[in-house]
Amino acid sequence: MSEREQSVAQRAAANQEKSPVTRVFSGMQPSGELHLGNWLGALKNWVAMQDRYPCIFSVVDLHALTQTSDPDEMKARIRDMAMGWLAAGIDPEKCTVFVQSTVPEHAELSWVLTTLTPMGLLERMTQFKDKARSQAENVNVGLFSYPVLQAADITIYRADGVPVGEDQVQHVEFTRDLVRKFNLKYGKVFPEPRALLTSSPRVMGVDGDRKMSKSLGNHIGLNDSADVLWKKLAPAKTDVRRVRRTDPGVPEECNIYKYHGFFSTADERAWAAEGCRSAGIGCRQCKEVVAKNINAVLEPMRERRAGLEAHPGRVDEILHEGTKKLLPLARETMGRVRDAMGIPNRGRYGIGEDR
Ligand code: TYM
Repeated sequence: MSEREQSVAQRAAANQEKSPVTRVFSGMQPSGELHLGNWLGALKNWVAMQDRYPCIFSVVDLHALTQTSDPDEMKARIRDMAMGWLAAGIDPEKCTVFVQSTVPEHAELSWVLTTLTPMGLLERMTQFKDKARSQAENVNVGLFSYPVLQAADITIYRADGVPVGEDQVQHVEFTRDLVRKFNLKYGKVFPEPRALLTSSPRVMGVDGDRKMSKSLGNHIGLNDSADVLWKKLAPAKTDVRRVRRTDPGVPEECNIYKYHGFFSTADERAWAAEGCRSAGIGCRQCKEVVAKNINAVLEPMRERRAGLEAHPGRVDEILHEGTKKLLPLARETMGRVRDAMGIPNRGRYGIGEDR
């Protein structure tokens, strides 16, 4: 295990030991199709958590605006993302699903929180530094203050559990810092949130070199057909030692073996490890078993998705219901924030109900 993997595993274990979670919030940007990294790092956990906690899941469209976007594409992507979640097993009877921008209190609280945020903290955010490099032509202020809006997403519902992949842990820790600062200065309004990680918080792409990501084109989509999946897996990188079929390899250093860890049975993993070490099997054989197992996970999603695509209006309804359910809670939190900070509550002036 690398040092980084060890520290993530330790954090995940420490998180499990802490006090129980009372409300879960998480979100995803509608910036591309869902992939196995999203599923293994977060979505799988969301599906499990909806049976155990009150959960809120948001399509974070305001965050996606920090990247260049086309209005028609944005509309389609928002619905597409919600559809992908439902296909993956998110059940609107058990949890709340909605679009971030339809609850304006996210943006309102975000402003409040920016006034507590030192510039230096934001300058240190890894995701900002990466994005500033990858979209150098569009380093907007939204990109810089992105983690503050993320902190507002979590705190507006006073959520304390945030199921995310490893790349988002820094943003959740940043949120916790802001919460402590706010509570210390204005009195306790927010619980301290913590990141909840799966056992696969950082899934590598089929290139074996970088984190799986749509923008890097090294991903396997949750909606990929069996054919497309195989076209991506067949040339995927394996242990560099296995140049020829007869060359033995080190499974622990093979990305495909990691995929076995996510999708295969103990017997299949043992077969793959032994076959790799002894050159008893070829990489293609090894990949065929991974493909079979990934397909077994994706097939029910593909089927559910086909059903949803036939009724896109139903998805819009679910999102609308989610917003209706959340608005009172968001307003209540803003009421508490306004009281704590000494800024007026609209309700007091007869303009509207904050509480
Ligand atoms: P986003 O949209 O980039 O990713 C969505 C979720 O998928 C996880 N993830 C991965 N996990 C493991 N391996 C991978 N290769 C991989 N790729 C993506 C991410 O960690 C994430 O959990 N800033 C967030 C969205 C957000 C949010 C929030 C999350 C906005 N507000 C409030 C939690 C709470 C983001 O860009 O995720």
